[in-house]
Amino acid sequence: MTEEKKTYYITTPIYYPSSNLHIGHTYCTVMADAMARFKRLSGYDVHFLTGTDEHGQKIETLAEAKGVSPQAYVDEIVEGIKKLWATMEISYDDFIRTTEPRHIKRVQAIFMKMYENGDIYKGEYEGLYCTPCESFWTESQLVNGCCPDCGRPVQAAKEEAYFFRLSKYADKLLELFEKNPDFLQPESRRNEMVSFIKQGLDDLCISRSTFDWGIPVPIDKKHVIYVWLDALTNYITALGYPDEPELYNKYWPADVHLVGKEIVRFHSIIWPAMLMSAGLPLPKQVLGHGWLLLGGEKVSKSKAAKAGDVVDPVVLIDRYGIDALKYFLLREYTFGQDGVFTNEVMLKRMNYDLANDLGNLVSRTVSMIEKYCGGTVPKADTSDEIDEDLKKIAVGAAAKVEEQMDKFAFNMALEEIWILVRRANKYIDEKAPWVLAKDESRKAELDTVMHNLAEAIRIISILIYPFMHSTSKEIRKQLGLWYADVEWKDAFVFEMMGGEQVKKGPQLFPRLDIEKELAELAAVHQQMEAAKEAEKAASAPAEPAGAEQGKPEITYEDFDKIDFRVGKIVKAEKHPQADKLLVFQVKIGTETRQIISGVAQSYTPEEMLGRQVIVVTNLKPRKLRGLESRGMLLFADNGERVEIVTTEAPDGNVVS
Ligand code: MSP
Repeated sequence: MTEEKKTYYITTPIYYPSSNLHIGHTYCTVMADAMARFKRLSGYDVHFLTGTDEHGQKIETLAEAKGVSPQAYVDEIVEGIKKLWATMEISYDDFIRTTEPRHIKRVQAIFMKMYENGDIYKGEYEGLYCTPCESFWTESQLVNGCCPDCGRPVQAAKEEAYFFRLSKYADKLLELFEKNPDFLQPESRRNEMVSFIKQGLDDLCISRSTFDWGIPVPIDKKHVIYVWLDALTNYITALGYPDEPELYNKYWPADVHLVGKEIVRFHSIIWPAMLMSAGLPLPKQVLGHGWLLLGGEKVSKSKAAKAGDVVDPVVLIDRYGIDALKYFLLREYTFGQDGVFTNEVMLKRMNYDLANDLGNLVSRTVSMIEKYCGGTVPKADTSDEIDEDLKKIAVGAAAKVEEQMDKFAFNMALEEIWILVRRANKYIDEKAPWVLAKDESRKAELDTVMHNLAEAIRIISILIYPFMHSTSKEIRKQLGLWYADVEWKDAFVFEMMGGEQVKKGPQLFPRLDIEKELAELAAVHQQMEAAKEAEKAASAPAEPAGAEQGKPEITYEDFDKIDFRVGKIVKAEKHPQADKLLVFQVKIGTETRQIISGVAQSYTPEEMLGRQVIVVTNLKPRKLRGLESRGMLLFADNGERVEIVTTEAPDGNVVS
């Protein structure tokens, strides 16, 4: 009888196909892919799901602006997303689109289950709606009058709608968080969610009737199902629930939903409540990762820095390869925390860790085995302290990698592997094989060195497999191991090699001239921006910008009521109660006042310090999470991140 493998079900969020994905989106999928590959290699039966979240008002509006049907609009972008995942060799087992019939019928079945359980009722919704996030908010939830998730303006909206009795599940949710400390990680997100629930949960509006692009409510075709309810169910509709439950029975509950920090609330409160309502088991864990902050300012004042960074993964892969990009994403950032993405940081990682450390180790070793041993990996007959130290680190690395992967600490798992890579490089310097080679009587020692290096690299090739499988294969080819399967258990033993024919191959990672690369990337960035502008101009409706924003015309007198002044930020710090807010002390002429802005996701306090900014000074003061804000700073929003508007004029000057 064959033993049943343990299952492991991992998911990414399903992405909005509103525009092409950038490097930030690929971050989560690359982590999920590494974990899926790691679990497969460790003997699990893995199911890895990703997909696209295709309904909602935003898509409908974008399609309209482009003059195509929503379906045609998403089809084109989804094709691009699938192509991107293929290019990045993402090993998903299923890709679910929320416009697929299999999903639509199952969402409706789940809706009916919740309805029949008495958890859905009809009412009227009046609130503030953020279209990009497809979320309703109450006045008190807004930050600076804008959506607390994305910082964009909200619109007043009122409609007849269906509601989900989310409030009914508050106690059960609190119990879930209390009894399962690991259900949601990291800890900071967990605390945030617990206090969110403790403030009281309102019932959730789960239908819309002001647009059509969605799944019809089965009991009332005038309404479509709220896009988040539609989207969250993907994790079980893709498994065939409820009508073809074979995969569902095998893989549900999910081991982990990997999601970005801003959608943790949907996954750890709304989704579990929906499952409770439908009488289904809950996922075992939700993990919220941080953001890559794009367009981060660099220390360098080179042209490249000013021109901005390339964040299109296709361009980066084209220039540097899939494995280099994956390595960088997994090595550079700490799970759960935000990190600044710049091309410079990326190139440095690629050069130092990949070209210098790993690439050199492999090419030096293969060349030496060719030169000193006729290309055949020798056996080892001698041993000293240095040899033993290398062996100890090599055979101990896999367990350390496992320990870090259990915590989703991809960066630390790679660091453990690089401890071995660096040790092996040092071993070459300590042993100086070129000296041993000059002395015939030391041939046995030389053989040991070559053998041990080959063993260490063999182990490295296994350890890096979940993160960089192509590089792993290339290394194995060069080591003469091309015929052998990569097996995790082989990373725990040292004495395996002897007799293999090595063969020098292409350089694994060419050394990059960072200044030159940055200049070229800056040029690419400029070209891409210009192309985007041209496309925008070609498709822009012949309306003034104000109308496009949906804001009514104002008179000169209206405008003149606003007092704009130049201010200088003399102090900047994080808001103690809210991680989206920064608290500034702004000097405006002789006066210094406190102003709070919801820009912590785009700027660190240090980046804001000393800036000459434009302040709306006569705005009614308001309290934001306990601190008073007297005025507002002007920012420009490019849809991705907000940029501070600055000036060189001295503080106190009137802006008119
Ligand atoms: N469609 C919803 C998810 C529904 S899941 C049932 C959605 N889509 S999204 O396309 O806007 O975002 C998908 C994921 O990409 C989110 O987890 C988000 O955090 C992540 N990222 C988008 N920009 C990012 C960065 N700059 N950095 C890291 N992750 C980022 O939300």
